[in-house]
Amino acid sequence: MDERAIGVFDSGAGGLTAVRQLRRLLPGEKIVYFGDTGRVPYGTRSPSAIFQYARQDIAFLLSKNVKFLLAACGTVSSILPADYTAALPVPFAGVVDAASAAAASATKNGRIGVIGTSATIRTGSYEQRLHNADGSFQVFKKACPMFVPLVENGYVAPDDPITAAIAEQYLTPLRQEGVDTLILGCTHYPLIAPAIAKVMGPEVTLIDAGREGALLARRRLTELGLLAPEGSVGGAEYYVSDEPVGFEPFIRLFVGADDGPVTRVAIDNY
Ligand code: DGL
Repeated sequence: MDERAIGVFDSGAGGLTAVRQLRRLLPGEKIVYFGDTGRVPYGTRSPSAIFQYARQDIAFLLSKNVKFLLAACGTVSSILPADYTAALPVPFAGVVDAASAAAASATKNGRIGVIGTSATIRTGSYEQRLHNADGSFQVFKKACPMFVPLVENGYVAPDDPITAAIAEQYLTPLRQEGVDTLILGCTHYPLIAPAIAKVMGPEVTLIDAGREGALLARRRLTELGLLAPEGSVGGAEYYVSDEPVGFEPFIRLFVGADDGPVTRVAIDNY
């Protein structure tokens, strides 16, 4: 049993897709969330810049005495070297392992689509894990660099015409390949899942990397005996690297009306 908080981080609002699941799955847990809103997006940057940002994000969360780290960011999870995460002082999980395993179980025809940021798609991280699970899987991937700015700028209404048009353009080739499973390999993408589902059609299973990350965190915390004691009162504290005012509506919309507080942090100091 461990009363300390779970540390969750992302470049911005995307990791809230993991937080909303964690709040439901583990209501007695405390969560400390960091969204690097001053430096979003990560997915258009070089691996060395992303690694440097992630190191600071992790240093900040460790300064909050967290018991576990969840990289609720497909880009960071794709870039961080395994020897680095293994040497961290607390257990670490990333969404790439979680979402790949879920897609491997979900597919019936072995044709799996992966969408993510440019940095994620360049690493081939999802593809590698899918092929480790089953070498016969056919993996079709597509970088969707416009999706993160759309989400961060609030184009998230289910019928938003701009998001719909861009989704159509990015995703039509994947639909034409006959994938039966699509990994939303960036945690921002579940926030526009209705637009994605509309292009892919009802037969295609969408794998939400944020949700799968939360499920993996619950499994690991359970195995490691790190869950909070029965009857603990959970809650979430949010930290961002730019003005909180732009972030609060995302919390209200995607996590809950009364969640908070949101505090600005000088991430360069970590
Ligand atoms: N939510 C991130 C991911 O899962 C972020 C992307 C970005 O900042 O470009 O990849």
